[in-house]
Amino acid sequence: MEIPYFRYDFLYNEFKVDVDRALQSVLNKGAFIMQDELKDFEQAIADFTGAKYAIGVGNGTDSLILMLKACGIGRGDEVIMASHTFIATATAASWLGAIPVLVDCGDDHLMDVSKVEAAITQKTKAIIPTQLNGRTCEMDRLQTIADKYHLVILEDAAQALGSKYLNRCAGTWGKTGSISFYPAKVLGCFGDGGIVLTDDPAIYQAIVCMRDHGRDPKTNQVCMWGINSRLDNVQAAVLLAKFKHYPQTMQRRREIAQRYYNRLASIPEVTLPPAPNVDAKHFDIYQNFEIEAENRDALRDFLRERGIETIIQWGGCALHQIKALVKDMHFDISHLPRTELLFKRCLILPLNTSVTDDEVDYICETISRFL
Ligand SMILES: Cc1ncc(COP(=O)(O)O)c(C=O)c1O
Repeated sequence: MEIPYFRYDFLYNEFKVDVDRALQSVLNKGAFIMQDELKDFEQAIADFTGAKYAIGVGNGTDSLILMLKACGIGRGDEVIMASHTFIATATAASWLGAIPVLVDCGDDHLMDVSKVEAAITQKTKAIIPTQLNGRTCEMDRLQTIADKYHLVILEDAAQALGSKYLNRCAGTWGKTGSISFYPAKVLGCFGDGGIVLTDDPAIYQAIVCMRDHGRDPKTNQVCMWGINSRLDNVQAAVLLAKFKHYPQTMQRRREIAQRYYNRLASIPEVTLPPAPNVDAKHFDIYQNFEIEAENRDALRDFLRERGIETIIQWGGCALHQIKALVKDMHFDISHLPRTELLFKRCLILPLNTSVTDDEVDYICETISRFL
């Protein structure tokens, strides 16, 4: 069997009929920028997540930058984030002159909320939990800390559209939340795309203007400095067509996660992400199935030789391990033991809707054989 980590051609073929119809419609109308499909998609995401406003932007990195900017994060401010996140979380802070302050992760690979308080200083302005791998942090505990120190929570929910904690969607706990539609995301478009969620009308208004050269859509007059970061209407149309199937997509991902769990949970050398139905507080959408394994590199080679492609998240480096940028981030390596250990052990197995049950079984058998 040949099992690639992700089948990019499946992105189009999975819902080809719906997508073709949507594309033909926008192309025939010539509706490329800021048209009805964008409005409809924004409304659909707002309704689905329970956010008051959803603002489509160019990608998940721009959405982080714009939401930090709209929340007043700027030069010299410290923002706390997990070291186990994508560079984009830190980039957003850095582009605004703010300083990423890195904390450890817990056993579920998300920000360890119990480590946040120790990282707070006079300069701390915000906490940015990453809702990693399609799972949501313990946001109630994090909010208590944020309230105690008058900090704002801004969520990097790039990987977590539809993930819930205490029945509330990722991206709607904080003052703002950011979601990415990069093709390999659970809801992926045919290029780049992102969306900001918020309930705050002032933040909504600022981001709506900033994404379109600082122009107020009501007057078409420039009212602030902005950039061009609009979610283009062709991508919005594709996303809207695919989003109709999103409940099935999430369900299938959870089934695959459970199948992995049934077949691998008894192997002591492997540690799995929490199973779909073990904790009623969490609803995970399994953007990634990130395991930990002893002898990880040899296991990865063994799987590759047998046609199974895996990845190590972020090219194998947590933020504090990125040599080129490390001087610009604040952290104490002795406070990151779990992240250090994790990056010796973590491995992501193929999990997406193109993966069949037989393929999952083959992957699990191959892992068992290795161990
Ligand atoms: C955790 C996280 N943050 C931010 C991003 C950035 O999103 P984008 O690639 O759409 O800019 C991603 C996507 O790759 C991500 O996984």
